[in-house]
Amino acid sequence: MITIDGPAGAGKSTAARELARRLGYRFIDTGALYRGIAWRVREAKVDPGDGGALGRLLAGTTIDLGDGAVLVDGRDVTGEIRTPEIGELTSRLSMLAGVREKVTPIQRRLAAEGGAVLEGRDTGSVVCPDAEVKFYLDASPDVRVVRRQRELEARGLPAAPEQVRAEIGRRDRQDRERPLAPLVVPDGAVVIDSTGRSVEEVVRLMLEEVARHGCCTRS
Ligand code: DC
Repeated sequence: MITIDGPAGAGKSTAARELARRLGYRFIDTGALYRGIAWRVREAKVDPGDGGALGRLLAGTTIDLGDGAVLVDGRDVTGEIRTPEIGELTSRLSMLAGVREKVTPIQRRLAAEGGAVLEGRDTGSVVCPDAEVKFYLDASPDVRVVRRQRELEARGLPAAPEQVRAEIGRRDRQDRERPLAPLVVPDGAVVIDSTGRSVEEVVRLMLEEVARHGCCTRS
């Protein structure tokens, strides 16, 4: 098991996807599950502050990852969960114990077979604290804003730099300051700063670390 944690825009999913591909491992995007929950909450028009309604909705919702897709009650919502609006709602919902208690066991089940690269905010600290290799990927705020802007543009959702900077700042505060499973550098994690490094360089550093731990490829 390999975990990669870090803030929004640090390049985690690109690196995790490529690392998994090179090792022949499965890529598990843990944030996508939280985004799936947010999609369901929005669709059902449930107020995140209404604990009873939220609990009932969660109890009746199934969420899974299948072949790169996010499935909510069997419906493929992969294309609908990447908007800034869902990102903000996800960050708010992921502070709630009921939401984390729903999602964390699913992530552990997905990772249980091993041969997996998990990417998220608490994968090395809470979901899989026993992972063989843990990374914490960071980047300077400026670089994170530019990457996030490009990502939004590629999805046809262009946004001004000040708007993206504010969005990232808000999510950083929420992810780092929440009492439950806050974003931290997990014990034993190797910190990699992706500022000024290409995806290839980041993945090469990760592969070197994986090799040091004697992990094998599956391909
Ligand atoms: O990585 P992402 O942008 O898709 O994550 C969306 C939100 O989900 C993020 O603001 C925090 C939350 N999240 C979390 O709390 N724990 C994880 N393991 C992954 C994501």
